[in-house]
Amino acid sequence: MVLESARALLLAARRIAVLTGAGVSAESGVPTFRGAGGLWKGFRAEDLATPGAFARDPRAVWEWYAWRRTLIDACRPNAAHEALARLALDRAGAVTIITQNVDGLHGAAAHAAATERAAESMSAMPLELHGSIFELRCTRCDWVAEHRSSIDASSDATLPRCARCGARARPGVVWFGESLDERRLAAAREACATADVALVVGTSGVVHPAAGLALVAALAGGAVIEVNPDETPLSHAAAVVIRASAAATLPALLA
Ligand code: OAD
Repeated sequence: MVLESARALLLAARRIAVLTGAGVSAESGVPTFRGAGGLWKGFRAEDLATPGAFARDPRAVWEWYAWRRTLIDACRPNAAHEALARLALDRAGAVTIITQNVDGLHGAAAHAAATERAAESMSAMPLELHGSIFELRCTRCDWVAEHRSSIDASSDATLPRCARCGARARPGVVWFGESLDERRLAAAREACATADVALVVGTSGVVHPAAGLALVAALAGGAVIEVNPDETPLSHAAAVVIRASAAATLPALLA
């Protein structure tokens, strides 16, 4: 019944915004931040993903990111990423995928789905609000590069450096206390403000401004559909709540 209501909303929608969080990648094997297994050596993401933590102990921060990169590199998109990529290709221009994830799995699903049908993947590529874990950025100049090989965080001397100026390089992700890319955030806000439906999948809804995008959609009159096994601060704004996992729900919901 709940699934049917959500399907009806999606079918009638002219524009759909999709907002995802770590839960959409959980069934690929990527640990979420706040659930069981979310801590690394007893640290929370908020202890490590900050400019202050990196300034104090770049080796420890890089060790965490090196661990997550190796783990994510072995993960593949799951049925939820695939269903979203197919939806965005089928309804090109009407669907915007916005993600807080830095794992690149939405992009990988977009490429795979587009290759399957010899189409362009562009319409299924996500707005990555928090950047990419497979990018390096210089801490001094504006050098940015994609980087997938493993990182040796065993000593300060082996940590990545900028290929242009030699300064210390950092992960290409947004940390707590930093601003999101203005253009990406504006595009995400616009997509949510004009969406008839906002499909919110696998986010705890506690990290802003990303979490607030669901409320932007609701305040503008869009219907929020939440897919999450647990209640979140966004649940009260949802017209339909599906208490189930992303990979179990999205293929049927979006078929
Ligand atoms: P969280 O780890 O805070 O929340 C994950 C959510 O996914 C929870 O609400 C779970 O109930 C839900 N969940 C778990 N398994 C699921 C499944 N199989 N299907 C659907 N939902 C599932 O992750 P985010 O909300 O993404 O930021 O966290 C937001 C930001 O905080 C991240 O982008 C990261 C983090 O610190 C930065 O690093 C800046």
